[in-house]
Amino acid sequence: MTKLTGRRVLLCVGGGIAAYKAAELVRLLVKAGAEVRCAMTPAAQRFVAPLTFQALSGKPVAVDLWSGGAEHIQLADWTELAVVAPASADLLARLAAGFADEVVTATLIAVDPRSWLLAPAMNELMWRSPSVAANLQLLQSRGAALIGPAAGEMAERGHSGPGRLSEPAEIFAAIAARLVPRDLEGLRVLVTAGPTREELDPVRFLSNPSTGRMGFAVAEAARARGAEVTLIAGPTELAPPEGVRTVRVVSAEEMARAVDAQVEGPEGAQVVVMAAAVSDQRPATRAPQKIKKQEGEELLRLVRTADILAGLGARFAGLPERPLLIGFAAETENLEENAREKLARKRLDLIVANDVSAAGAGFASAENRVLLLDKSGGRTELSGTKLAVAHALWDHLRGLLRR
Ligand code: CTP
Repeated sequence: MTKLTGRRVLLCVGGGIAAYKAAELVRLLVKAGAEVRCAMTPAAQRFVAPLTFQALSGKPVAVDLWSGGAEHIQLADWTELAVVAPASADLLARLAAGFADEVVTATLIAVDPRSWLLAPAMNELMWRSPSVAANLQLLQSRGAALIGPAAGEMAERGHSGPGRLSEPAEIFAAIAARLVPRDLEGLRVLVTAGPTREELDPVRFLSNPSTGRMGFAVAEAARARGAEVTLIAGPTELAPPEGVRTVRVVSAEEMARAVDAQVEGPEGAQVVVMAAAVSDQRPATRAPQKIKKQEGEELLRLVRTADILAGLGARFAGLPERPLLIGFAAETENLEENAREKLARKRLDLIVANDVSAAGAGFASAENRVLLLDKSGGRTELSGTKLAVAHALWDHLRGLLRR
């Protein structure tokens, strides 16, 4: 299932027997991580109690335009995508005419119609009405999207034909497709994530607190947008994102080899995002058996690991056919200065700078706040859940790819 973590969906429920199916849609959206708010017309409330939608969305339901405050404007402001399900013949007419006399129409008139997804549902005799067709055409000409209706049996005995509300899973897929653009279709992407683990002996290793969350989110976001994604992951407990080819590695050296294999040849990655926290050092030797205390001083003699990203930067420097190289910089001080230095030294296109000492950012946090620095001097701040930051990063990278 596509993740819609943090995406804000307004569900407007119209008056129709299919209103009960809209409840299932809320469940699917919530399960996908979306934030869902519901608004119901007075007619909808005659079919299903607002409490149902409140319980499923975990949020109060907008039912009354006259409850005080300007709930409809707050809702409109908050909305990323407004789904109207079921969109009854009456509701379509009132939307087309620009009514704002109850909470659903009053909210929707304040939302750009290009952010509307209409899921009509009505008896097939009503669906055939030229008024319905004209209203829908008008709404579509203003940018509203349409899903369904499906054909099949009607609630009214003996009636069948087009007019059934699309199945909740189909409406969900239409929502996901609108919220997650397929704008990376076919792009070959390589992402590294997680820590590396440099073993000293069978019971000891050198590592760092990276959980892999940010890199996994970058891979997941790219996949959702249609990219062909390979994820090279150091030891982490995260499950591989669906549809992503995941290669598990342990040490920096293994990661380096796996990365090399992915950037080779004409089918090599077009974008490399090195989100992994690669260990800069490793024990000079790995003992095959547990080292005993008395073996003493030699316990930790460290040598440098190869810098994978700097290696790619040098290898592709000046070549016309080169992948876009993106690095991460985890810093605890002088964030921008240190990150800029790495951007230049490793010959990257972009660096994602992360102050890992700040609250609500960095290792193990679900949220992140980062600074994107690109080689032409651009500077962009991003914050939000790691998945939201990942999507914003891809928005940014698309701009760089076009150049
Ligand atoms: N990186 C890499 N290979 C390494 C070390 C780091 O490819 N051996 C990559 C990381 O994946 C990251 C970027 O380089 O994208 C920055 O890594 P970081 O460890 O923060 O920077 P360093 O260059 O190691 O600099 P310093 O240790 O001085 O902070």
